[in-house]
Amino acid sequence: MGEITRFGVSLPSELIGAFDEKIKAMGYENRSKAIADLIRNSMVESAWKSGKGEVVGVVTLVYDHHTSDVVNKLLELQHEAKIDIYSTMHIHLDHHNCLEILAIKGPPAKIKSLADAAKSVRGVKHIGLTITINMK
Ligand code: NI
Repeated sequence: MGEITRFGVSLPSELIGAFDEKIKAMGYENRSKAIADLIRNSMVESAWKSGKGEVVGVVTLVYDHHTSDVVNKLLELQHEAKIDIYSTMHIHLDHHNCLEILAIKGPPAKIKSLADAAKSVRGVKHIGLTITINMK
């Protein structure tokens, strides 16, 4: 962590009261960490919505590997996605279902395209997408 800057903030008492109650329930020990997390969440959201630059993240897929061609289609999508796929993990959940986890980096629009395209493949039952950025 870099240098720490202290600053004063003026807020309505009711607002800070509600904030303190909320962050206490969430397990925060002080406002500083809670505010830093809010700022970082806002930066991730902006990066995702702006569509500019690169984000990193995780895609989770659950699919029935017995469905015709699903494995090949998902592999093809990954090869053509034009994003960095750092790592993939495949877990055989049961006789039918597979869980695949992809660690990825790339432009938001390309990541969204991959997720949308994978969602529409027959046999894919669920897709999760968790996005973050390389934090300051
Ligand atoms: Ni499997």
